Parts: sequence; C-alpha cells; structure tokens
Amino acid sequence: MSSEKPAHQRPETPDFWEHRIHSGVTPWDAGSAPQALREFVLNHKTVADHTPHVLIPGCGSAWDAAFLDSQGWKVIALDFSTAAVETARITLGKGWRGTLLCADFFTFSPEQRFDMLYERAFLCALPRSLWPDYATHVAKLLRPGGLLAGSFFLSDEPKGPPFGILPQQLEELLTPDFIRRESRAVADSLPVFAGREHWQVWERR
Ligand SMILES: C[S@@+](CC[C@H](N)C(=O)[O-])C[C@H]1O[C@@H](n2cnc3c(N)ncnc32)[C@H](O)[C@@H]1O
Repeated sequence: MSSEKPAHQRPETPDFWEHRIHSGVTPWDAGSAPQALREFVLNHKTVADHTPHVLIPGCGSAWDAAFLDSQGWKVIALDFSTAAVETARITLGKGWRGTLLCADFFTFSPEQRFDMLYERAFLCALPRSLWPDYATHVAKLLRPGGLLAGSFFLSDEPKGPPFGILPQQLEELLTPDFIRRESRAVADSLPVFAGREHWQVWERR
C-alpha cells in the first residue's frame, strides 16, 4: 500500500491548489498589484528601449498580470490549476492583450526567451525539492541580462506552503546564473507574508 499523501495535500500537484481555491482559502491573494511592482514599472519606463516581454509563472488570480498589461507590457501568465486560470480569466477581462495559459511551469518551453520573469508567491508555493529545478528553468527562460524580479518569502519556517527560504539559501540557489541587483523589505505584505517578504531583482548572467 502506498504511503504517499493524496494529491490535494501535495503542493506539487494542481489538486492541492484547486482544493484551496474551491474552498475559498486563498490567503496569498492580494486583490491588486503590490506597491513594489508599481514602483519597479515606473522606474523601468525610463530605461526600457522596447516593450518588456514578461512571464508570470503560477499567476493565480492574475492581479499582477492585469497591472503589467495595463502598463503596456507583453505578458504571458500561466498556472497549472484550472480553477486559478478561471479566476485569472475573470480578473483579466476582455481588454487583456496578453496570453493566459493553463500549463506547468516546469514543462513550459516557449520559442523566445523573456526580458523578465515576475515572482510572487510562486517559489514559496513549491516544495523545497523543486527549488533547484525552479532556478534552472528560470535561467533557461530568461535572456542574458534578463531579470528575475519580485517578492521572495525570506523565512526559516519549515512547514509550508508558504515554504520559507533563508537569504543565504536563495543566494546559493540563484548565484550560479544570476547577480542580485536589489533587495529591500516589502511594506504592504498580506498577513501570511508580513515581515518576511522582500522585493528582489536578480539579473541573468
Ligand atoms: C500561492 S499561489 C500564488 C498565486 C499568485 N502568484 C499570487 O501572487 O497571488 C501559487 C500558485 O502557483 C500555481 N502553481 C504551483 N505549481 C505550479 C507549476 N508547477 N506550474 C504552474 N503553476 C503552478 C498554483 O496553482 C497557484 O495558483
């Protein structure tokens, strides 16, 4: 007899997230784009010489995708949970010009590389055993000089999700392919992340 937990208790499966979304238990859902992303886009306007092409893995309700699209960015948002994608479709509405996909991040293999990958509550949604694959796949999807930017859940909390990562661990995970360009505490976190969320920008070598 298998001792493996049922799928809805394993965060590496869509069932885990479906179960929470259908039960209305979504403490990660901010309902709007965070201040740090808004500031980043504002500053980026002065340096970007073309429309940035961004990927949002594990987009959930897609508030951040809607914001980036409204700023004229070219967005691909994906999530492997059909319930999340249905919610995202409602958030994005008819005016959305980007692409919304129901897909697994780890097997997503587009033809073109991205200028940016936006991170929020995705790495911390993944069991720690998947973190090396996350780092490898993010590096593969970004062009040299491309950015991994967003909020990271820096915590030593062993149980999850959210699965906390220590600053040193994040450094070890990303420095083979990235250089950290920014790091600061986030002020408008939801209670589940409060005091442990940091906005960081990592540049692909
Ligand atoms: C904690 S939620 C965060 C949602 C969103 N990023 C936000 O900030 O509101 C994590 C999301 O990642 C999705 N997810 C987890 N593993 C995934 C994978 N391998 N591929 C695509 N989506 C995944 C889940 O379905 C869930 O919607």
